[in-house]
Amino acid sequence: MAFQSFRSFLEQLERTGELQRIVQPVDSDLVLAEWANREMKSSGGGKALLFENAFIDGKRSKFSVAINTMGSRKRVATALGVNDIADLAQEVQLILKAKPPTDLREGWSLLKQGIHLLHARPKHVSKAECQEVIHNVLDGDDFSLHDLPILKCWPKDGGRFITLPNVHTRDPESGARNVGMYRMQVYDGRTTGMHWQVHKVGARHGKVYYERGERMPVAVTLGGDPAYTFAATAPLPDGLDEILFAGFLRKKSVELVKCKTIDLEVPADVDFVLEGFVQPGETRPEGPFGDHTGFYTAVEEYPVFHVTAITHRRDALYPTTIVGPPPMEDFYMGDATVRIFLPVFRMNFPEIVDMTLPPEGVFHNLVFVSIRKQYPYQAFKVMHGLWGMGQMMFSKYIVVVDEDCDVHNTSEVLFRMCANTDPERDSTIIRNPSDSLDHAPTEQNIGSHMGIDATRKLAGENYHRPWPELLKMDERVQAMVDSLQGKSP
Ligand SMILES: Cc1cc2nc3c(=O)[nH]c(=O)nc-3n(C[C@H](O)[C@H](O)[C@H](O)COP(=O)(O)O)c2cc1C
Repeated sequence: MAFQSFRSFLEQLERTGELQRIVQPVDSDLVLAEWANREMKSSGGGKALLFENAFIDGKRSKFSVAINTMGSRKRVATALGVNDIADLAQEVQLILKAKPPTDLREGWSLLKQGIHLLHARPKHVSKAECQEVIHNVLDGDDFSLHDLPILKCWPKDGGRFITLPNVHTRDPESGARNVGMYRMQVYDGRTTGMHWQVHKVGARHGKVYYERGERMPVAVTLGGDPAYTFAATAPLPDGLDEILFAGFLRKKSVELVKCKTIDLEVPADVDFVLEGFVQPGETRPEGPFGDHTGFYTAVEEYPVFHVTAITHRRDALYPTTIVGPPPMEDFYMGDATVRIFLPVFRMNFPEIVDMTLPPEGVFHNLVFVSIRKQYPYQAFKVMHGLWGMGQMMFSKYIVVVDEDCDVHNTSEVLFRMCANTDPERDSTIIRNPSDSLDHAPTEQNIGSHMGIDATRKLAGENYHRPWPELLKMDERVQAMVDSLQGKSP
């Protein structure tokens, strides 16, 4: 189901008891973030919050602030118009099954074609809700970023940060579009940082513009159908268009409208559009920022975004999030991504039964994967394969367990890991690119990664004793005790 606006998504959350309105005045400088952090840490991710009286620099903002809107399994599913994320995984599976691909590249290209066939191709419109109000900076309009209730999230942050921006860019050579989520530090009312890390598609597009010495048009959208925001965070391979993917998720073509001051198109129903450009070669110190990792990331040089226009809906809402020590809202977004793309992983590794990135690992630091093991060293094959797939290259620890272990139960995985491994024999350490945010490696962006084979050992895996049997109660006795305790089987 497609939402016509971010507001209609929030109304749906409210109808299902998933949204709490806050009418008290709340300062967007730290106080709102602390309130949201407590909510995100509450059981199951708490509720979405709508702050109707957010204050910025002592003034009430005319825009309400929405946060934690995708911060639970139920809300991510609602955002993507399904009862359960498994329904979307099944659709991906069906596309791939239509003609089973022979390798991963073919798999992605099939997925792309399948998504096309599902009429996800965008449409072009000339009138758009996101342009109901137009502030053209080039014409001297003095509306600025200071008019938006942008949060300062943690005490030592370098300033206010736009934390849920969908950053639209285009490859000047192929014309391919990309939408990625890269935070933006507000420097003043008209300029921000553009934190696209070196491995990301926005950075690659930027490099092409820099080499050509051309100014790079960039459009940043906030809000609209939550499928856009979700798609921007999804680690799609370079070239698989997020707008197409969003159309597939919402089962409706995305309507695109031309920006007013730059040559890019954006979804017509979003709440805000920041139009602007990045100038080749120009960088500025960005940070510090209280990051996903739970630590402050250090100040680094990043490109600068210059605003040329801000357009918005008349009834725009400001969507945001905070990141920090887990679990946070982003865990549920990442978790849904893994579940949607599990069929793609399985296509290359049919032995994979299930996979998860537990919240403690903050995305890439920890991966649990269960496999149906048939032959020696199969767990190592799976680890190496995952390290070669897109952003899975960052995975710092991969633990492989047998199919009967529930990877979503961290305690069960740790039990298997402790019981089933001889550390020297069952681990491997490799060198690979590291997540730019990881502060532990000696050098930024490169580091070591560890794989642990916690599966039962087969002949040929340098284990020369009979493997013991895992304790399990008889099913008959279990049923008997269920009935004695009045539980249904
Ligand atoms: C809330 C949130 C904030 C993020 N901030 C950044 C960021 O500042 N820089 C970055 O490179 N990636 C950031 N990411 C991760 C990217 O959005 C993600 O890797 C995405 O796949 C990048 O898109 P791309 O592959 O099209 O470049 C963030 C993700 C989330 C959920």
